[in-house]
Amino acid sequence: MAAATPPTLDVARADACSRRNGHTAGIFGRHALPPLAQDEIHLWRLGVGALEVRPQPQGSTALLRELLSGYAGTDAFVIERDAHGKPRAPALGGLEFNLSHCRNVLVIAVTREQSLGVDIETPQRRVRSAALAQRFFTRAEATALAALDEAVRAAAFVRLWTHKEAVLKAIGSGLSFGLARLEFRLDAAGEVCLLESIAAEAGLAKDWRLHRFEPCPGFVGCLAWRGPPRRVRHLPAVD
Ligand SMILES: CC(C)(COP(=O)(O)OP(=O)(O)OC[C@H]1O[C@@H](n2cnc3c(N)ncnc32)[C@H](O)[C@@H]1OP(=O)(O)O)[C@@H](O)C(=O)NCCC(=O)NCCS
Repeated sequence: MAAATPPTLDVARADACSRRNGHTAGIFGRHALPPLAQDEIHLWRLGVGALEVRPQPQGSTALLRELLSGYAGTDAFVIERDAHGKPRAPALGGLEFNLSHCRNVLVIAVTREQSLGVDIETPQRRVRSAALAQRFFTRAEATALAALDEAVRAAAFVRLWTHKEAVLKAIGSGLSFGLARLEFRLDAAGEVCLLESIAAEAGLAKDWRLHRFEPCPGFVGCLAWRGPPRRVRHLPAVD
């Protein structure tokens, strides 16, 4: 549902909600939300100084509600979870979103009429998980990771992980889709450079858009959607 006027966030309620969930005030800042154009994705980063505790599922849902109601100009919606746990708000008629949290950072991506997925991680979080590549990634990905210097392998693993998870979250099935059913090409430095292939039910690899970003120092993130290019606008909340 497109708002007739630029959407605004009820800051007082967002602050109250934030305090209820143990956060400090001013999570979304004190300005009107910028208008969300049809070809735009707003990528909100909430955290670092603003979130003093790791967002809990209930807390991130409350913050998500405040943000969505700011865009939609209404509180009359329910955030539902589909069979795989992806949150959706059908009553908002085309307002699409996804979120990811890691430690004290939460990102929420919002757009119109375009399913999307976002994932953030810290290299530290998965540093002991690099061996998982052998088991869960494709053979080519595991080989590319194994060829890297140990010093860069963990970071490359996490970058690749965020790309995969963002796509799986855009599809909506999450990890149950199968991490090896999409394959990325890595360059010699371990940078993810291309979605090489994906299981047919998720469309053509060339139709997928991947937007990598650094939510804040020490974190990596990826935003994914299947469709035409969109402008990604980064909107850091007050830290
Ligand atoms: C979604 C999933 C990839 C989460 O990964 P993670 O790195 O641990 O967590 P993130 O912080 O990046 O993402 C969690 C958020 O993704 C969203 N999410 C949950 N399931 C999702 C899905 N299937 N697709 C897209 N987004 C999903 C939620 O908003 C969740 O946060 P919230 O619970 O606070 O609202 C993983 O839990 C998964 O694969 N879930 C699906 C499990 C499934 O298929 N269950 C079937 C029913 S039993």
